[in-house]
Amino acid sequence: MNEIDLKEFGRMFREDFDLPTVLFQDGGHRIYWLGVPEATAFRCNTYLIVDNDEAILIDPGGTGHFEFIQRRVAQILPPERVVAQVLSHQDPDVAASFPLWVDINPYIKVIASGRTLTLLSYFRDLPFDSINIYDHPEFRFTSGKVIHFIPSPFLHAPGAFTTYDVASKFLFSGDIWAAVDMEWTLIMDDFTRHEMKLNLFHLDYMSCNKAARGYVNRIRELEIHAIVPQHGSIIPGEFISQALDYLERLNCGLDIIYPDLR
Ligand SMILES: [Fe+2]
Ligand SMILES: [Fe+2]
Repeated sequence: MNEIDLKEFGRMFREDFDLPTVLFQDGGHRIYWLGVPEATAFRCNTYLIVDNDEAILIDPGGTGHFEFIQRRVAQILPPERVVAQVLSHQDPDVAASFPLWVDINPYIKVIASGRTLTLLSYFRDLPFDSINIYDHPEFRFTSGKVIHFIPSPFLHAPGAFTTYDVASKFLFSGDIWAAVDMEWTLIMDDFTRHEMKLNLFHLDYMSCNKAARGYVNRIRELEIHAIVPQHGSIIPGEFISQALDYLERLNCGLDIIYPDLR
């Protein structure tokens, strides 16, 4: 399967918890949506980037997700081949299961910002291998394929960052562009309706418009084929510019709490 027309794929997709879902494939480079074991408004997404016989987990999830995600990874490749896990920030719904992946592969690299790494040690007091994205803003697979880490401070955590896979041009956005609602599809297809679901998360969780605008400035020139967030639906290519505009004009967090302070 080559690059998928995500919008077309969204129409055909049936929620399927028995098999991993391929979102992108080009030779040995593949991206999977691993699914979620919960049908809640806050449902969490974990993704796997596979490059030949190496794999990287993106936001592995809470401890309650671990068994499901491990089983799903095992349908793709032996879980000990997961060479790294990217933790966009330290929230329990993103990161609490990370020590269980260290138990599977003691050499697994934990990729996060310094601020996140400091807090991760409270989930696991034993040492683990880590990569600070501020020291190493990219990760290179053995094949030479590269992923980039783009800081997104205060969206919502101070040490939050996003991950850009150069081969697929997918942007793994963590909590940015997260949407919450009981009604859910894997790929969204109506931005106006989706905006309401984005608001339910962003108005309360994101810190302020300056943080949002600063991040959009960082990624404006990036060629993005899909935004893949940790909650809610994937945003396919045709809605990317609307998604960037949404974030740029977002009034949220402190803008709402202290409207008179600028
Ligand atoms: Fe979060
Ligand atoms: Fe989250």
